[in-house]
Amino acid sequence: MKTYLVTGGCGFIGSNFIRLLFEKETNVHVVNLDALTYAGNPLNVQDVKEKFPDNYTFIHGDVADQQVVDEIFHNYQINSVVHFAAESHVDRSIQEPLLFIRTNVLGTTVLLNTAMKHWKEQWEKNRFLYISTDEVYGSLPLDQPEKKFDEESPLQPNSPYASSKAAADLLVQSYYTTYGFPAIITRCSNNFGPFQFPEKLIPLMIMNMIEGQPLPIYGKGENIRDWIYVQDHCEALLEVLHHGKTGEIYNIGGSNEISNSELLNVLSEIVAEQTQVNPDEYEKHITFVKDRPGHDLRYALDCSKIQNKFGWNTSFDFSVRLKETVRWYLENENWILSVKTGAYQEWIERQYSNRLEDV
Ligand code: NAD
Ligand code: TYD
Repeated sequence: MKTYLVTGGCGFIGSNFIRLLFEKETNVHVVNLDALTYAGNPLNVQDVKEKFPDNYTFIHGDVADQQVVDEIFHNYQINSVVHFAAESHVDRSIQEPLLFIRTNVLGTTVLLNTAMKHWKEQWEKNRFLYISTDEVYGSLPLDQPEKKFDEESPLQPNSPYASSKAAADLLVQSYYTTYGFPAIITRCSNNFGPFQFPEKLIPLMIMNMIEGQPLPIYGKGENIRDWIYVQDHCEALLEVLHHGKTGEIYNIGGSNEISNSELLNVLSEIVAEQTQVNPDEYEKHITFVKDRPGHDLRYALDCSKIQNKFGWNTSFDFSVRLKETVRWYLENENWILSVKTGAYQEWIERQYSNRLEDV
């Protein structure tokens, strides 16, 4: 039996990763450590919990809480750590940078220290996978489409979010260099798909379209992001976890560069088609709002390393995946309701009232 400690497994990517792990592998135990912040929703892994009750353990706790992390390593024979837990939204990091430093930097260091202590250099069996982001590289210009970041590009993060991820990314690298700690880093582009909290562009726009709300585009809408379907990201993570080399960094991108304005047009058409509404309806709601301070213009990744080493690539056409994603949000009313009403927060309070103040 192989035991994975997945942090942030009630969030968007973490929950998709746990689901895929159970689909692809047998004889595994997943310990999911999640603080259930506003972004963590127990419904995201409800099906996993029901299907694999003996192989799935949920621990409500904070990655920066040394005692909780120590207890986990003491109570379970953790083979691999897959570290997703983070404060993940750029706009919130502009409002509250310290929270990002605490979770993303301190939390990662607590995990590194604890894993190092408990693994006692029996490292050939262990892996620590740190889920970093393309945002650590900073911004590319709009007028040089041939430019992309590869794994050797310097780290030049701009937002407090990206800086906190870069700080943790460097700490992970330093544990490999200094102690030989078995760490691997992945840096992924913007994900989309089921279970994404509607503060991020795609689910926010889908929900606002369904509800006839304004569709706020920052600045001129010319900023470019490279979108990857979450399952493609998770498949790449499994490749890296099993076949990646410790001390290495792997870029994971979707090769789907699109400006925010263009994306909104494509999304409007898809939502209109699926709800049988005239797409002009949505155009009326597009509102250009004040730009995000320090707004990165463009992200783009050179992913030849992971493609050449593992033959990994994205699986489906972007618009097919977008259509599936829209359908998911249309069909999962209970999930939407739980997010909108914060219903799951009440559930958390009922289940874990004694530990909420630690979070
Ligand atoms: P998310 O915000 O949806 O989920 C984060 C999860 O972490 C939530 O379940 C939350 O409750 C949990 N969490 C937050 N603080 C915690 C703490 N102190 N202790 C324990 N758990 C805590 O994020 P996501 O979009 O799933 O991103 C997961 C990881 O992937 C993050 O590290 C993020 O930086 C990285 N990443 C995300 C994207 C993207 O497009 N979403 C792209 C590249 C990298
Ligand atoms: P977001 O989903 O927050 O991801 P990130 O900032 O990490 O790339 O935003 C994606 C892009 O969409 C980014 O350029 C900011 C822009 N955006 C808007 O124009 N309006 C919005 O309401 C949001 C949330 C984002």
